[in-house]
Amino acid sequence: MKAFALALILSFAMFSCGENTETVSEDSAKKCAMPSTVNPNGDSELALLMREMADWTDSCKSAITSGRVVPVAPADLNTLHSAKRTDPNIDEKVFASMASLYQSRVTEFQAATDANRVQLFNAMVQGCVSCHENFCHGPLVRINKMMIPVN
Ligand code: HEC
Repeated sequence: MKAFALALILSFAMFSCGENTETVSEDSAKKCAMPSTVNPNGDSELALLMREMADWTDSCKSAITSGRVVPVAPADLNTLHSAKRTDPNIDEKVFASMASLYQSRVTEFQAATDANRVQLFNAMVQGCVSCHENFCHGPLVRINKMMIPVN
């Protein structure tokens, strides 16, 4: 019972943290949605990597839905943690844990069988969503469309 109460308190605490980062992420949401105005010196390494990741994810989706072999993941994926970002002040810890989560979903997706490929693809796209909910809301509409509908 005590443990339950503690868990409850903890989850409330996490909720309020979530609200704090919300204000930050609204800010970052603007930053990442308009890279050209916010970052007139050129797009960040991370923004370029994101475009590569988005293209790869789109290609995987069309490969899966038309029964072709999925393309290999971009080699640059291993720079996800270190690529320079437009906003240098984002929460390192949250970013790093979301980046690792996404990378492990990529690994799982690449080891998929015909039976679980769609499920693991959607889990991988959910990895994009989880990070974007924290940092950068702009691309969420596009990312959500990457999911493969399952009946
Ligand atoms: C670990 C966190 C994280 C993950 C995982 C992640 N993103 Fe991002 N994404 C960001 C951040 C932060 C930016 C802002 C980049 C910048 O401006 O430096 C961004 C930017 C973008 C952009 C805008 C790029 C541009 O042109 O400026 C797109 C599109 C995008 N992400 C799509 C995706 C897709 C698709 C996935 C999954 C395949 C994904 N993201 C996974 C954090 C993440």
